[in-house]
This record gives sequence, structure tokens and C-alpha cells, in this order.
Amino acid sequence: MKPNAPVSLTRFLIEQQREKGHINADLRLLIEVVARACKRISIAVGKGALGGVLGSAETENVQGETQKKLDVLSNEILLDANAWGGHLAALASEEMDDPHPIPDRYPKGEYLLVFDPLDGSSNIDVNISVGTIFSVLRCPEGVKNPDEKAFLQPGTKQVAAGYAVYGSSTVLVLTLGDGVHVFTLDREQGSFILTGSNVKIPEDTSEFAINMSNMRHWEAPMKRYIDEMLAGKTGPRGRDFNMRWVASMVADVHRILTRGGIFIYPRDLKDPSKPGKLRLMYEANPMAMIVEQAGGAATTGRVRILDIQPEKLHQRVPVFLGSKNEVERATAYHREADA
Ligand code: AHG
Ligand code: MN
Ligand code: MN
Repeated sequence: MKPNAPVSLTRFLIEQQREKGHINADLRLLIEVVARACKRISIAVGKGALGGVLGSAETENVQGETQKKLDVLSNEILLDANAWGGHLAALASEEMDDPHPIPDRYPKGEYLLVFDPLDGSSNIDVNISVGTIFSVLRCPEGVKNPDEKAFLQPGTKQVAAGYAVYGSSTVLVLTLGDGVHVFTLDREQGSFILTGSNVKIPEDTSEFAINMSNMRHWEAPMKRYIDEMLAGKTGPRGRDFNMRWVASMVADVHRILTRGGIFIYPRDLKDPSKPGKLRLMYEANPMAMIVEQAGGAATTGRVRILDIQPEKLHQRVPVFLGSKNEVERATAYHREADA
């Protein structure tokens, strides 16, 4: 093979297994299967109105959110793809109340897969980037039929995490705990090709991502952090900041991975029963692992996301992630206020 020949995801994974010993055959299969499912979701998303997949499914998920047809379809694609390979013990998803067992007719493996099948669903019908987020855990030893409890492991226990963005191109971002690697879907060939190795998030940034319409519900340290940025050159920060908000976490995180920035979905006081909007197990944790592996930071504004001991599968957390120095500053403001 020529020295500069494109590296496919398959080759990348085989090298991770054979040369680096980072993964075993089951984890390699798992990633390949998830990537294949993402390809199918990408095709469905890309058909848009022609595929009859836009609009609401007129059902609700466990969190009381109305499901879009593509939420349901993407969930089914991931379930079907992962049922028969023998690499999983169980799956869980944003769109299912409880963990989904592997059907009895198939062998069971040692991994647990948790996913947000379609992130950014409010953007589906308006042709803006959406994505898939996933996290891989090990099934606790001796557990034959994993229930919710088996999944409740802190993010530090993830053995792999990734996301796909279905945007102007389809991109798969992956970490196996040794850096972050980016693959772009070659639509003609139908394969993911390595287009970025060991990507790093710049430590400093002048760009923030937040839904400003919630400002009146924020806590005081949160208001302080944003106010100081909005004050620009003549304010305490001494420089101007720019704002971006796609409302698809995958797209916002991908921008941050590419050129830096801070993404925030803080705790707000709109609904005191919800300590944030984003879900720990299949949004915050996988993204936090990726961001940390890329040299960034991820906290709830108070504690490191990856250290949280989950209490529920669909638990929500505040999220601050991206360029290290900004995440640390926002976190320091919260800690100062608490003290
Ligand atoms: P999902 O579509 O999986 O429910 O997630 C949507 C999330 C996240 O992608 C995004 O950052 C955020 O919700 C947007 O929230 P707002 O609509 O409140 O801006
Ligand atoms: Mn989501
Ligand atoms: Mn979703």
C-alpha cells in the first residue's frame, strides 16, 4: 500500500487492535457496527422530504419530548445493527425508557452501548446539522441480564465514545481513550476515511455557544461569566467575544473541536426539577470524554462531568465544555459564588 493511501475506519481499527493493543476484536466490531448504522442514518437524513422521514412521529419519549420520525428511525437502525453481532450485553438510548436486552437468540458480549440516536432533532425539518452520540461501557462482571443499574457507571469508565454529525459532510469522531480521531464519510465509496488524528482543542477562545434566551433563569455566576464576555474590549475581559448556537450539540461540539470555543447548557431555574437540559449518560459523558481527550475540559460548572456517579439512566446535568481556560474560568466563578 502507498504510504499516503487513505486510511479507512476499518484499517484504523485493525491497527488499534493489532499494533497498539488498545481494543479487542469485540470492541472493534462494535465501533464498526455503530459506524455502519451512522451511515444508514446519514442516508435517511440526507433524503430529507424525499424519504418521507421529516416531521413528528406523534409519540413521546420517557422525558416527555415529542419524538420526530427520524428519532424513532435512527433508534431502530442502531438497535437492529447492534442486536446480532455478539459484542453487546445490552443497549440503552434517549428514546427508550429502559435498557434494551440483546434478544435471546443471539450471543451476548461484554459491552454496554448507550446512545442519543439523533441529537438536535429540532433541526431535522429545517435542514440543519443533526447527529448521533454514543458511549461504550463494560458490563459489570457477573451481570447476565443488565438492567439500569449496570449502566450507572461514571464517565471515567467509558472505553470508547464518539459522535457522528450529519452536516454538509458526514463526519465520525471517535476516541478509544487515546486521543480523538476524525473520519469523513466518502459517500461514493461508502467508507469512513481518517481525516484528522489526535485533534486538539485550543486552550483559549473568543467564541461561546449558549442559548441566550434562558438568561433570565440563570444563576448569578453564570450571568457574571456571560456579562463579562458581552462587555467586550472595554469590559473586564479586555477583548471581544463572538457567539454561535446551532441547537444541535453535535454541531456545536464539532465546531469547538475544530477551532475552539466553549459550549454551555447551564443549570437554570426555569424548571427546578431539571438540573440542566442535557442528559449525562448519552450526551454529557461521551462529549466530555472526547473533549478531555482533545485537551479540553468538561464540567457541570462545579465538578468534572466524568467523575459524576450517575443515579438514573436519563439523568440531566449542566454542561460546560470546550477550550480549557474558559471552562476553568466559568467553573471558578461558580465555585467562588458557592463559597
Ligand atoms: P435532542 O435533540 O437529542 O433532544 O438534543 C437537543 C439538545 C442539544 O442537541 C442542543 O444543544 C440543545 O438540546 C438545544 O436546546 P435549546 O433548544 O434549548 O436551545
Ligand atoms: Mn441530544
Ligand atoms: Mn436525541
